[in-house]
Amino acid sequence: MVSAARGSASAETASARVLMKEPTLPLLVRGFLFASTQATEPECFNRLLLATEKAYGPVVMRVRKDDLLFLNNIDTNTLHGVFRATSDGGFNIQPEAWNGKYPYQVKVELLGDVVSLVDAKGILNRFGLGRNKPLFGSRLADVLGCFLSSPRQLDSSSTSQGATSNSLILKHIESIRARRAKVDIEPEIPLVEATTFWDFPAQSYGLTSKGDNRYPGVTPAGIIYNLVWRYTDPGDLVVDPMCGSGTTIDVCREEKRRVIGYDISPVRKDIIQNDARSIPLDDNSADMVFIDSPYGDNIRYNDHPDNIGNISSESDEFYDELEKVMKESHRILKEGKVLGWLIGDQWVKHKFTPVGLKIYTSLCNYFEPLDIICVARRSQSSNTPVWYTRARRHNFYLRGFKYLIIVRKTTRRAFSESPRNIKWAQYERSL
Ligand SMILES: C[S@@+](CC[C@H](N)C(=O)[O-])C[C@H]1O[C@@H](n2cnc3c(N)ncnc32)[C@H](O)[C@@H]1O
Repeated sequence: MVSAARGSASAETASARVLMKEPTLPLLVRGFLFASTQATEPECFNRLLLATEKAYGPVVMRVRKDDLLFLNNIDTNTLHGVFRATSDGGFNIQPEAWNGKYPYQVKVELLGDVVSLVDAKGILNRFGLGRNKPLFGSRLADVLGCFLSSPRQLDSSSTSQGATSNSLILKHIESIRARRAKVDIEPEIPLVEATTFWDFPAQSYGLTSKGDNRYPGVTPAGIIYNLVWRYTDPGDLVVDPMCGSGTTIDVCREEKRRVIGYDISPVRKDIIQNDARSIPLDDNSADMVFIDSPYGDNIRYNDHPDNIGNISSESDEFYDELEKVMKESHRILKEGKVLGWLIGDQWVKHKFTPVGLKIYTSLCNYFEPLDIICVARRSQSSNTPVWYTRARRHNFYLRGFKYLIIVRKTTRRAFSESPRNIKWAQYERSL
């Protein structure tokens, strides 16, 4: 270990009772890992700012003032600490830092002097410490313990500074061990998906529910989380014109986006009653639109006469009405911004209807296609042994996936029709 210096009366009674009922526990102190290289490290210390790019944005946005942070220089395999967050994690706190390359940032101070541990990899492995795995409780206290220098390790020149760090770190270890606070962070913060196949084990993620998993046709929250983190920044406005039980609203609030959710038949106070074919927003005002529309008339959402979910996907009317929703979404989106549309096909009574492909085709009349994600369908009523047997016996397939169609509003029609000249990297195959 090296230690180096661097820098009304009854109403009142009632409210008092309410206050007494809910004693406020101290907030949990969590530990987070940041990374740097030789090139980026000096700016961390000079600015007292730790930062990262979008891939770890969800982690940074969960950092709170007073959390403890560690910095792993991956070039030198060193772990620097201990930092204390002096701000919440934020977006572009210092936009000019690292020339804008690492906009997810936290302001920090050092607990005493910087302590730099060698063999960072070994320490990270030993404690299961990862960029998206926050530490808390005894595990955090154990990691902090690595930053304590024994009296013999404090050489004469750094004794008083090392001793200051030691006493500050010890104070934190003691208070973390003694602290009784509710765990308020997930053990692993989901990173965005890297492939075009998404399979979420549950409808929600994290410590709070998103939407209502009893709502018919509720959207897996992971889909919205991924779109939000791929295509928007904190503070951006996300709109869901058919938001059902409000999954989009809950995800966006947790990820610090502004959000407006509409539905023809709202089930929550924060959902605005509106027909998606006419959205009361200005042109070019939204940073992202997400829609999980009806896939036909297979689910009875409500009895509202304008519910598009009462129209069969075997009829042209269904696509005509959804095309009006596409036009509106296009109008309210800002140039260059993204729409994600979740849709599934239909097979009923010996007839297959490729709803997803039809919706894709219509979307391409207005938007530039960016990608299609195949999302595994899990919690459906047909996900039972009886239906599996029926599908085999009567020679049909149960719907195993939905399409998440991702398109972008662009007026410059960048999607050229002529084939591009691509140089593929060819790899030798070893037989
Ligand atoms: C698949 S559900 C959406 C599920 C939602 N994303 C969630 O997680 O709970 C489709 C929704 O479209 C709504 N809907 C149908 N027709 C509509 C219309 N014309 N305007 C607005 N919403 C409509 C339905 O009421 C239903 O809530």
